[in-house]
Amino acid sequence: MEKVIEIQHLNKAFGSHEVLKDINFSVNKGEVVCIIGSSGSGKSTLLRCVNLLEKPSGGQIIYHGEDILDDKHDVYEYRKNLGMVFQHFNLFNNHNVLNNCVVGQIKVLKRSKQDAEKVAMKYLTLVGMERFVNAKPKQLSGGQKQRVAIARALSMEPDVMLFDEPTSALDPEMVGEVLKVMKDLAQSGLTMLIVTHEMEFAREVSDRVVFMDKGVIAEEGPPEQIFNNPTEERTREFLKRTLKA
Ligand SMILES: Nc1ncnc2c1ncn2[C@@H]1O[C@H](COP(=O)(O)OP(=O)(O)O)[C@@H](O)[C@H]1O
Ligand SMILES: [Mg+2]
Repeated sequence: MEKVIEIQHLNKAFGSHEVLKDINFSVNKGEVVCIIGSSGSGKSTLLRCVNLLEKPSGGQIIYHGEDILDDKHDVYEYRKNLGMVFQHFNLFNNHNVLNNCVVGQIKVLKRSKQDAEKVAMKYLTLVGMERFVNAKPKQLSGGQKQRVAIARALSMEPDVMLFDEPTSALDPEMVGEVLKVMKDLAQSGLTMLIVTHEMEFAREVSDRVVFMDKGVIAEEGPPEQIFNNPTEERTREFLKRTLKA
């Protein structure tokens, strides 16, 4: 199986606070990996290290066989391969929906406006937001905003999509429409690394689940193992707490 991203012995400290401790895992091509764990366990920091929004304190990030932390690698080039979707959408509020999906393509990928609009329409249609091209973000519901954010990331045609709790800022009635889009993407063969607190979703779409606890990977395995038959006591405790809530 072709490894897209491989994390080896990754550490991250903020001052003397060690937030990630010896993290090791990999994501294969076409795989959907969900990261679960309590608030503060380091999930966002891990994703932010993967796309180098945070500089790791130690360890390796291997992308298609090459260590992207060594000096000869261009961070900017590397980042083009990764699409990121955040909890709070991070749309450009002064741009309409179409432009939100176009500006990055023109600026970063040097596509023509015409090409960029064509690509944007393709992905806006995929997420069911093609009728809203002229709307401004503030006219949209949270679920619609997040679908635009997903279309914007897809418009860059990334190799891997990273999601950081994309539904946790949404009203409950809007969670479903976003998870549906993500499920379709997962089935399309896209490589995805997803931090989520949606346990049903993680169980259903993951090829592998990574459970983080206090800055370490406490357990990792197929969803059947993690949810039905976890080997670690702290996984059991976490699931008991989370599924009861
Ligand atoms: N920029 C930062 N500076 C200092 N501490 C941080 C920073 N970002 C995150 N942390 C700390 O790292 C720990 C893990 O945070 P985070 O990765 O956001 O966890 P999660 O996403 O699992 O809730 C927390 O204790 C948090 O306070
Ligand atoms: Mg987080």
